[in-house]
Amino acid sequence: MKRSTAVLAGLALLVVLHGGLAVNHVTMDVKIRDDSDLSQFYQLLEASRVANNTLTYRHVTVFAPTNRAFQKYNGSTNNLVLYHMANLPQKIEQLGDSISSELEGNPPLWVTRRRGPYGEELYINNAKIIRERSNFESKVKVNGDVKTQVLHIISEVLEPVRSNSAEMPIYNPTAFQFLNQSENLNMGDHRVRSFRQRIIIEKKEDVFKAEGRYTFFIPVDEGFIPVPRPQKVDRVVIDGHVIPNHVLFTGPTPDNVPYETLVFSDNQKVTVSFLTAQNKVYVKSNTIVGDPTGVVLAEIVKANIPVRNGVVHLIQRPLMVVDTTVKEFLEEKEDGPVYKFYEAIRDSGDDIMTTINHLREVTLFAPSNAAFEEPGVKQILQDKNRMREILKLHYVKERLPLDRIKDKSVSQVPTAAERKKLYFNVVQGPTGNLTVTVEGGGVNATVITANIAATNGYVHIIDRVLGVPYTTVLDKLRTDPMLNSTYFLGQRRSFNNQLKDPTKRFTYFAPRDYAWSRAHVTNPSTTKKIFMEDFSYHTKQILERHLVISDQPFTMAKLKRMNYNGTVVLPAARDALQLRIKEEGENDKYDENAIRPETSGYQILWNEKWIRVFRPDVECTNGIIHVIDDVFMKEGDVKVTGSASSLSFVASHLLMILIAKWLL
Ligand SMILES: *[C@@H]1O[C@H](CO)[C@@H](O)[C@H](O)[C@H]1NC(C)=O
Ligand SMILES: *[C@@H]1O[C@H](CO)[C@@H](O)[C@H](O)[C@H]1NC(C)=O
Repeated sequence: MKRSTAVLAGLALLVVLHGGLAVNHVTMDVKIRDDSDLSQFYQLLEASRVANNTLTYRHVTVFAPTNRAFQKYNGSTNNLVLYHMANLPQKIEQLGDSISSELEGNPPLWVTRRRGPYGEELYINNAKIIRERSNFESKVKVNGDVKTQVLHIISEVLEPVRSNSAEMPIYNPTAFQFLNQSENLNMGDHRVRSFRQRIIIEKKEDVFKAEGRYTFFIPVDEGFIPVPRPQKVDRVVIDGHVIPNHVLFTGPTPDNVPYETLVFSDNQKVTVSFLTAQNKVYVKSNTIVGDPTGVVLAEIVKANIPVRNGVVHLIQRPLMVVDTTVKEFLEEKEDGPVYKFYEAIRDSGDDIMTTINHLREVTLFAPSNAAFEEPGVKQILQDKNRMREILKLHYVKERLPLDRIKDKSVSQVPTAAERKKLYFNVVQGPTGNLTVTVEGGGVNATVITANIAATNGYVHIIDRVLGVPYTTVLDKLRTDPMLNSTYFLGQRRSFNNQLKDPTKRFTYFAPRDYAWSRAHVTNPSTTKKIFMEDFSYHTKQILERHLVISDQPFTMAKLKRMNYNGTVVLPAARDALQLRIKEEGENDKYDENAIRPETSGYQILWNEKWIRVFRPDVECTNGIIHVIDDVFMKEGDVKVTGSASSLSFVASHLLMILIAKWLL
């Protein structure tokens, strides 16, 4: 017992003494050979004499891609292994901004650190270091010198820029050499002559030759159509394609974080950010100050080409240049970010596209391709007429940059669909960033990419198709902040439970929170009771007065048509709901100078008071909500003695149902 304790202590001491060096008796070669997940890399290693020598005699850091990484890789493996080695041994803590590789010309490998959900993440070019399997260190003695060797395991194969002709070897090119020699490089079908020509004409070579750390966006030749476009790629636009001081590979770069480009002075400011959607990576330039302002979106067609002074991404069209109409933007790329929306418009018949194209000013709220994957949307796509109406919800006949919504100078706007509006809200996220939501036809969508500029307006990409209901009446109440009180009260006595029934069709006149706070003022004692648990019976009664259950929901337009001698009687869950309906500003066409009506034009008369319908026709899967500005409640509604006249209520209720049926 005593002896073994002593042995353990001795061992511990040894470990402590050696701890600083962490000498490992497994050699690097054996470590890689014995890891079956590195067998592909090991094959390359064995085949390379230079790599073997390095491993035997020198300091080294090895970045070994996993077998999986090789499965994804389809480039050449020629000389590849030397690009995965550096002759400086560096553990994760020691890695700086870059490290020189052993490939001819010693091209740098770029290092990115970023905060991930489980701590710091490290990338070598676009490959992630698999941390828990990295930082292996071993020592070899060479003629009395100790050489340190470090192994990191990475998730992607690192691909250097290489010449494809033996006569024209290219080692460690700058972005300019890359452009200049592009014909001799391994770039697939991509051609970048047009951009190169613009750089030479505008004498901007130095920007691409400069030593340092840059991100370069190079538009490919296809992006220089239509004809006047090349001329628009001037000195400033060229500068807008370069981000200084950041080497941004797509893997570690977060979406929607703007980086300053070389165009960033008092009178002109352009940023570029990245955006990922459906396995594609886009970049967007945002001209914040300048003319024209707005966003230009371009898909990255070949990403992450490492060069001596940073990284190059080939993009599908030039940034900053705004020379297409909204229609042309939609048509521009067959698999662009809103291609499904374009298809839906095209398939719905000619008229919508023609209308959009003839508008001098237009703003399109274009659902993303992912939004069209929703089962409810797919179903409606079959119904051409319905779809046409829905599509009209997605554009407004004016220029509406997001700033005007963000600063709250616009909170609602009429759409191209008759009497349908879009309602905006600005929500502050946890990190302080502002999100803009847009509601149309009962669907609350979020703007995910804003301000794509066109010559005749803007396109904002949203995450849902408007007008295609996707929630039940219950879920809508639960999630709409404006309807919180009505939802809250409906939780009493399980009143709300019925509202999730998919087989029913509800029409719910839902007072918004503003209506309840108004009731607190005009009808304080009754309202106060309604909010008290003790009076939940009465609360339920009052809510029932607002709810019509039927085999079809009633839009405001339909209710208006149904009126008989000026009055509509609906079979509400309690009592008969007797209303008058009026609509103002029916024929108002929006024009620049007119004061826009702040609400829908609808008002309803209940119990001798006119109540504004704040938001009509919020469509849900099992009915419709009309958001109203007052509560169907009178003084004396809450009598503690209970409802003596409930029998007569039932009788009149039945009568009213009969009347309503007859009217329909
Ligand atoms: C849409 O949802 C957001 C976030 O939940 C909310 O703040 C906004 O008020 C909603 N918009 C409408 C018009 O209900
Ligand atoms: C909803 O309304 C109830 C009652 O007025 C209140 O207690 C609750 O905090 C509100 N919830 C939200 C999210 O505003």
